[in-house]
Amino acid sequence: MATLTVRKLQTFPAEISVPGDKSISHRAALFAGMAEGRTVIDGFLPSEDCLCSVKAMEAMGAIVEPLEERPGVGLVKLAITGRGPKLQAPAGPIDCGNSGTTMRLLAGILAGQDFSAEMFGDASLSRRPMKRIADPLRLMGASVEGQGEKICAPLTIRGGSLQPITYTLPMASAQVKSAILLAGLYAPGTTTVIEPVATRNHTERIMSHFGLRWQRDGDAVSVEGGQVARATDLVVPGDISSAAFWLVATAAAPGRELRLTNVGLNPTRTGVLDVLRRMGAQISVRELSSAGEPRGDILIRASDLHGTVIGGAEIPNVIDELPILAVAGALAQGVTRIQDAAELRVKETDRIAAVAENLRRMGAHVTEFDDGMEITGGAPLHGAVIPTFHDHRIAMAFAIAGLFAEGETVIEGPECIQTSYPSFTRDLAGFFLA
Ligand code: S3P
Repeated sequence: MATLTVRKLQTFPAEISVPGDKSISHRAALFAGMAEGRTVIDGFLPSEDCLCSVKAMEAMGAIVEPLEERPGVGLVKLAITGRGPKLQAPAGPIDCGNSGTTMRLLAGILAGQDFSAEMFGDASLSRRPMKRIADPLRLMGASVEGQGEKICAPLTIRGGSLQPITYTLPMASAQVKSAILLAGLYAPGTTTVIEPVATRNHTERIMSHFGLRWQRDGDAVSVEGGQVARATDLVVPGDISSAAFWLVATAAAPGRELRLTNVGLNPTRTGVLDVLRRMGAQISVRELSSAGEPRGDILIRASDLHGTVIGGAEIPNVIDELPILAVAGALAQGVTRIQDAAELRVKETDRIAAVAENLRRMGAHVTEFDDGMEITGGAPLHGAVIPTFHDHRIAMAFAIAGLFAEGETVIEGPECIQTSYPSFTRDLAGFFLA
């Protein structure tokens, strides 16, 4: 098995620029593929996950032109000429890899097609619950077949003449909200999703970008069916979820300061900044543009970190950052409590169990709950062998922990990092271990 060995941090950079936002890159590929016209996407994240979305649209008739490869990063600029809303039936099953976003958002698009298509994924994706999208899409009139009670992949979706629905999300999920809104574009009339807790709004923002109208009224988001997306070039900002690893590395390194440039600052994603500020980090933000997706530079300065409580309505905003925030908790003084985060158990792996196990392996004190964990920080961390459970964020969070541990930390199976941050290992080695 391949491994990544991390030791105590040796050097420290002044500035890092992170690759494109994963959520926005997925949506850029999907909407460009169902738009009329040619969209140039710059700042694209060429991770395995996002490339699954590109390949899926290509398999259904979109034309993809690679425009710029960045050495060590991959395809950062491409053009997609869309097929229009009615796609072409794919020649075979669609491979969604490790990507829940591809499978769930594409399910919404497939629900509006006149053909039947199959989607499959890797072992991790095949364990994740798809009932959450099957239920509303079936209510709209699509046929969604999957495996077992949780309706797991492989999924077969037969689109049909859809009808609009009003649906209250039973869990806080931007993927489920997005699947319904996408299907709503194919249903005559108004489809409304009510989200009791706000989730990331990249789908809504990108709909505006592609000329699709939608409305928000309190906690309800509505779209009218029958609209056609119009190709419009777009630039993807850096991913704040990738920046989070370096934010924590800085916050926990006494006397250090780091500038992260061109990071997405959508308020539905910046909760990690609020949590780190509560823990004592000094953070300032310079917003460079607020059009479309807001973006700007983040300057972070270390100070003595202390524990905090992370829970309630804040959870969807920091959901992907909770593994690295748990590591921050272990490096802080006092108790950090993560609660109301049961969704972590159905991510690429059970992230509550994986984080608790690995923090303990490194010498931290952790109590696990059904919906979170409590970490008593301050115990010195030591190197350990870290199973990643094929989860990119577990691998990266514990690589950062390794920078603060005595001895060597060995991350098993680091190739899963390709899911969201293909140049992470290069950045880690070049900026912190050289
Ligand atoms: C995502 C939404 C979140 C997040 C995932 C990406 C998206 O998932 O964890 O990494 O792009 O919409 P859920 O919708 O399951 O909460």
